[in-house]
Amino acid sequence: MFKKGEIITVTIEDVTSEGEGVGKVHGFTVFVPKTVKGDVVKGKIISTKKTYARALLQEIITPSEKRVKPKCLVYEECGGCNLQHADYGHQLEIKRKIVEDAISRIGGFQGISIKPLLTAGDENYRNKMQAPVGLIDGKVVAGFYKPKSHEIVPTDYCIIQHEKSNEILREVIEIVNDLAIQPYNETKGVGIIRHIMSRVGINTGQTMVVIVVTKMDFPQKDLLVERIKKALPNLTTLVFNINEEKTNVILGNENVVSFGLGYIEEIAQGIKFRISPLSFFQVNPRGMELLYKKAVEYAGLTGRERVIDAYCGIGSITLFMAKKAKEVLGIEVVPQAVKDAVENAKLNNIVNVSFIEGKAEDVMVKLANQGEHYDVVVVDPPRKGCDQSLLAAIKRIAPQRVVYVSCNPATLARDLKILCEEGLYQIKEIQPVDMFPNTSHVECVTLMSKVEK
Ligand SMILES: C[S@@+](CC[C@H](N)C(=O)[O-])C[C@H]1O[C@@H](n2cnc3c(N)ncnc32)[C@H](O)[C@@H]1O
Repeated sequence: MFKKGEIITVTIEDVTSEGEGVGKVHGFTVFVPKTVKGDVVKGKIISTKKTYARALLQEIITPSEKRVKPKCLVYEECGGCNLQHADYGHQLEIKRKIVEDAISRIGGFQGISIKPLLTAGDENYRNKMQAPVGLIDGKVVAGFYKPKSHEIVPTDYCIIQHEKSNEILREVIEIVNDLAIQPYNETKGVGIIRHIMSRVGINTGQTMVVIVVTKMDFPQKDLLVERIKKALPNLTTLVFNINEEKTNVILGNENVVSFGLGYIEEIAQGIKFRISPLSFFQVNPRGMELLYKKAVEYAGLTGRERVIDAYCGIGSITLFMAKKAKEVLGIEVVPQAVKDAVENAKLNNIVNVSFIEGKAEDVMVKLANQGEHYDVVVVDPPRKGCDQSLLAAIKRIAPQRVVYVSCNPATLARDLKILCEEGLYQIKEIQPVDMFPNTSHVECVTLMSKVEK
């Protein structure tokens, strides 16, 4: 057993689903973040449990062949990209293994076809930035949090953010400093500016800034808007989002549009999307096209199918599917997203879609009770996966194919296991997509088909 503060030497044998290197010292498991398979490192023990310990990287004694020099200047401190030290090809191998492990260990499946990752480039890919704002040495700063903390690592350039978001961050923070507007202090619950959020339409060139504030009436607000307009002349819209709660949730429910329409548009595969501040939209638009194309291919549409798109957000998968299906029903819980989805269908003259606002699990149970038939069900839940009642409803509706889009291999594996119980469904193929390069996150689209008896 190790003592806290003890320095150990360890050879890294693997990388976990959290992106941490792992090795053994005298048969005891030690996790060391920011290491990669093949590294021999010195680590300082920071916590010990019965069966494992965690250590902080102190020194790389022998670097792995798979190690590269991270491009980000604040990589060491920032909690954002936990795999930037791994060669990009190796990142893809790590993620494929994360999916394989989840499918076999949690799902209990063997011999499943898991394809090599699809990828669309590893830098400047994010269309959405959410930078916390704080005060360090009397200066207003913005950046990203340290791992597992709310301590800000100040930066004005993030390699995974779109160039326009980096520019927005630099300009807005300079102006906030000039005008001496107080950032929000989480501990004391006082101050004005909490986060700077940006969204970029990579194919339309439109940009949105959302400044998250504790209240709307604060000194220098008009000047702030005026200066932002001048510094960012191509900004499409500026919105203030009000969040006065003592909470970790970034956005409040109320948006006040300062100028522009309060949303931006993006185009993917010829389909136009309206995106509001509170609506979910995939953060990697190029990766998104690969993901959705695969989802449509897996749906096997001929033009005759009735399709459900559960957890539909602003209707992005719904509209992709609608082009090839008879009709698609989107289900989503966030009212603003449903509004956007309805608008998006109109914007694209797509008439064979409808949307229901509500919890996907409630709506699906209702549809199953009504004996409704659908040929394909697509689900794209948040990280926690699907509600159990939704999975049960899918089995009762009994579509020919289920297309499961997931950003969390662990909950994906759990849910696939439930869908395959009783031999009703079988997994045909899993396609991981690298939607979040330089981090250990991985998106998957899975095709399941009904087992004919
Ligand atoms: C991962 S996003 C997918 C959105 C969309 N399919 C896309 O690709 O843009 C998950 C969505 O599920 C919504 N959501 C979360 N819980 C839900 C629930 N119980 N019922 C319906 N929608 C839910 C979220 O608001 C979010 O829009």
